[in-house]
Amino acid sequence: MVNVLVTGGAGFIGSNFVRYAIDTHTDWLVTTLDKLTYAGRRENLHDLLEHPRHRFVQGDITDAVVTTKLVHEAEIIVHFAAETHVDRSLQNAGEFIQTDVHGTFVLLDAAREAPQLRRFVQISTDEVYGSISDGTSKETDELRPRNPYSASKAGADRLAYSYWATYGVPTIITRASNNYGAFQYPEKIIPLFITNALENEPLPLYGDGENVRDWLHVLDHCRGIDLLIEKGCDGEVYNIGGSNEVKNVDLTRQVLNLLERPESLITHVADRPGHDRRYSLDTSKLRALGWSPQMDFQVGLKETVAWYKENEWWWHSIKHDSTEFQAYYDKQYAKNP
Ligand code: NAD
Ligand code: TYD
Repeated sequence: MVNVLVTGGAGFIGSNFVRYAIDTHTDWLVTTLDKLTYAGRRENLHDLLEHPRHRFVQGDITDAVVTTKLVHEAEIIVHFAAETHVDRSLQNAGEFIQTDVHGTFVLLDAAREAPQLRRFVQISTDEVYGSISDGTSKETDELRPRNPYSASKAGADRLAYSYWATYGVPTIITRASNNYGAFQYPEKIIPLFITNALENEPLPLYGDGENVRDWLHVLDHCRGIDLLIEKGCDGEVYNIGGSNEVKNVDLTRQVLNLLERPESLITHVADRPGHDRRYSLDTSKLRALGWSPQMDFQVGLKETVAWYKENEWWWHSIKHDSTEFQAYYDKQYAKNP
């Protein structure tokens, strides 16, 4: 059996990856290490908690004792664990530095003494390139992160590279664009807007709504990571993008159309400070290895809307039974009643 450690496996992309990995690789024994922050939930792995090839460990990646033991057992590590929401990083950046930078250091440092380890995938993000007005970002482009989330991810990204260059830790770094799909915490635009629309609540669109994101279905992301585990080269960076750029306002209209809700639900609110205007990735390096996104955005968005409609049990408790979400929402949007 191949021992695979997935950090952050109870989050959105991590839980999709754990499910994909267990289904795809019948010889993989997957360990999820997750702190279960507000964004990490056992429910995201509800069908896998008793699976014979899956083990769930609740723990913090910054805890060297827990982390070192698991790193020393793993042949493959896929490191998703992070604080991930830009808006929260603008409210309070401390946890981002602690988890995204220091936590990555703890994992990498343990990986220095792990001769059995053949792959350490550092999950980075297109946001490390910063806002790009024209063209597409290539892996060799300068990093210009502009908010505390993307800056902490850039720190982790380069730290992973440095552990390959200095100590030979077999890292590869992936920079994916905005993901969408099932199990995404309803503070990010797509699940927030779907669930608000379902409840006939306003959809708070920042600024003029003309900001552009490149949407990637989470399972296309998982397929890209899987391919890179086999075919990626140590020390290299790979962009993973949907090549599907959409303005926020158009995305919002599509969500409303799919749910047959009126455009009057759109509420233009104050812009996010330092709001990156556009992200766009050149994905030719990954495509040359045989990957391309399989999910058409119209189909993927329709399926995603249907998933939230059918899985109210999953999001309703987050939005209404926990004070955490409501407190965040009130603070974030209070200035825009
Ligand atoms: P998420 O917020 O849904 O999940 C993050 C997970 O990490 C949660 O389960 C949380 O409990 C866990 N976690 C946080 N701090 C931890 C700690 N100290 N120790 C252990 N576990 C901890 O995030 P996501 O959207 O699934 O993103 C996963 C990764 O992918 C992140 O590294 C993110 O930067 C990257 N990424 C995300 C996107 C996107 O669009 N969502 C795009 C590109 C890259
Ligand atoms: P988000 O889902 O937070 O992802 P990221 O900031 O990592 O790209 O936001 C996606 C886009 O949607 C971004 O341009 C900000 C915008 N947005 C809104 O307009 N309103 C909202 O309430 C949220 C959460 C995001």
